Amino acid sequence: MSKPKVFVTRVIPDKGLDLVKDFCDVDLWEGELPPSRDELLQRVQGVDGLLCLLTDKVDGEVMDAAGEQLKVISNLAVGYDNIDMSAATARKIPVGNTPDVLTDSTADFAFTLMMSAGRRILEGDRYVRDGKWKTWGPMLLLGIEMRGTTLGLVGFGRIGKAMARRAMGFDMRVVYYDPNETKSDPDIKANRVDFETLLEESDFISLHTPLTPDTHHLIDSEALSKMKPSAVLVNTSRGPVVDLDALYEALKFKRIFAAGLDVTEPEPLPADHPLLTLDNILIVPHIASASRTARDKMSWLAAKNLIAGLKGDHLPNCVNPQVYAK
Ligand code: DGY
Repeated sequence: MSKPKVFVTRVIPDKGLDLVKDFCDVDLWEGELPPSRDELLQRVQGVDGLLCLLTDKVDGEVMDAAGEQLKVISNLAVGYDNIDMSAATARKIPVGNTPDVLTDSTADFAFTLMMSAGRRILEGDRYVRDGKWKTWGPMLLLGIEMRGTTLGLVGFGRIGKAMARRAMGFDMRVVYYDPNETKSDPDIKANRVDFETLLEESDFISLHTPLTPDTHHLIDSEALSKMKPSAVLVNTSRGPVVDLDALYEALKFKRIFAAGLDVTEPEPLPADHPLLTLDNILIVPHIASASRTARDKMSWLAAKNLIAGLKGDHLPNCVNPQVYAK
């Protein structure tokens, strides 16, 4: 019997790729950069399944280019704003994502960004490399310590809660804003507040919300103007949640203390972007989930979703279960 045909849009860890290769006839995109739009439209033709990344825009045009036999779209990410969900659901195509397995990696990383931005790690490193380190200085590179400060979490899903657990270990007070939170966790000490209170009271603000029309530029100049001048802002969610022009102004004129970004708008951020001229920001290339453990598990789960969809089974993690309604 012939194997189902799939297009995998980038080389992923073997944990998942080997599973996919065992079960499918795989067309693997081996480029370091994602396939272009034309290449994507061409390579999906006739496939039964698509394993894609957050860098691939998968809309109705891509689904139609694949054809009616397309049974499943498996995204190697927990976020799926790169996929037109109404187009997939209208075509009864289940879409899979990879939650849980990257929660700790992402929370560890967001915490790292908070501490690095608050304690000016990169500035310190540049200071040493630039040969400026002449002596120990009582006023040198003063930053913000964690104990007793308030952490404001925007979004209180899996990763937000993992942040709260870490913050409890640092004796921080935790507040969160999440209009969609449904399940509280009795082990976590955190208070729900409105958005404005969170902005006004937090020393550290960490973003863990999906990108939706409601969260696009949620952190704009008005939101930034409500933060403390000593606030540190961290974003490991999606770039467009923060208006980068407004952030540039706030950092340049020291209206907030510092920022750490794992995600930007656009990605990649051009090397001549004004933010990169500032000392009080550190920016890394969307790597919060990039621990070996998490990426192995993400590839495994993405493969499981793909294979389940090809077999006609329910995906282990389906983001549009409506497709299964009779
Ligand atoms: C995701 O999974 O959505 C992250 O942004 C990449 O791991």
